Amino acid sequence: MRVVEAFRAAFGASPQTVWRAPGRVNLIGEHTDYNDGFVLPFAVPWGLTAALTPRADGVVRLLSLQSADGEPVVMETREESRGWTRYVVGVLAMLGDRVAGADIAIDGDVPQGAGLSSSAALEVAVASALNDVHGLGMTPMELALLSQKAENDFVGMPCGIMDQAASALCEEGHALFLDCRSLGSRSIPFDLAAHGLSLLIIDTQVHHEHAGGEYAKRRAECESAARKLGVPALRDVTDLAGALAQLQGDERKRTEHVVTENHRVEALVGLLRAGAVTEIGALLNASHLSLRDLYEVSSPELDVAVEAALKGGARGARMTGGGFGGSAIALVPVERLESVQESVSAAYAERGYQAPRFLPATPAQGAHRIA
Ligand code: GLA
Repeated sequence: MRVVEAFRAAFGASPQTVWRAPGRVNLIGEHTDYNDGFVLPFAVPWGLTAALTPRADGVVRLLSLQSADGEPVVMETREESRGWTRYVVGVLAMLGDRVAGADIAIDGDVPQGAGLSSSAALEVAVASALNDVHGLGMTPMELALLSQKAENDFVGMPCGIMDQAASALCEEGHALFLDCRSLGSRSIPFDLAAHGLSLLIIDTQVHHEHAGGEYAKRRAECESAARKLGVPALRDVTDLAGALAQLQGDERKRTEHVVTENHRVEALVGLLRAGAVTEIGALLNASHLSLRDLYEVSSPELDVAVEAALKGGARGARMTGGGFGGSAIALVPVERLESVQESVSAAYAERGYQAPRFLPATPAQGAHRIA
């Protein structure tokens, strides 16, 4: 294994453990996780592999096979971490006294900038490896929560639990139906091939810089709306019309999105349970329109990808993840895969957008030990 060889070359011994954790796409349930709502992500076949041996002296030596110079970053203290190393050091910091330092080599194949949660995969891979070598006995959900805390408190991104939970808990061939309040989850069979379908990820290759600030703003708007409605979270709104009558402007629009999106997740799970995979397209489309018009987190590139995919024969399509760039997903009958890609590529060329990247995804296994 490449990562093990690199570990040996850099640190002079074999790693004590090797873990792999995947990235994710979200089928439906967008911007619902931090509103205590429902999500339905699945793990993608691309992920991060972490080879690790603990150190007693508190030093962290980190080697990434994707870094240009091929040299490990050596950090004597946690304050020295910069850039991508913060995701790793954040996990170590959240474990506090339970761990000291570590030698870690990382190899990854998550397409960068596609919004497929490579950072969550990195956190979960490292957290799982540390849990293993230190015998901490943490469950996959506890590892996901720890990883989310690293991202919230150490990296400073106020994300919800979806990405880390997907990376830690997903099962091959299944989507993960997660209640972000109770943290109860269930794996739902999602067998695309049996229905002659493919789930095509359309990576716009665009990421807008203001995404982080807009994310925090949406979160604050939802919290403010919940306070005005006198409920703990927007998840608790049962009378949508009544709630909307009490709100105005952006808070009203955000609330309408979150409440209806939660219902769409439950409806989609119902269709999957009934074996009606081909029927989920309309819910994907409705989710996209709601994210575009009510939550206002789409982008021109995402909208064009969705419209052109539908024109090319997709049964449904939507932006996925936080928004403002990243990827869209399209549910495509396999015989239409080519025409969908042609349609999207042509629409992008016509507008002078950078060519999109197409990645067919099948639901993969969540975090697991590989050596
Ligand atoms: C990002 C966050 C998630 C979630 C999505 C939107 O991916 O990391 O927690 O909020 O956006 O659904």
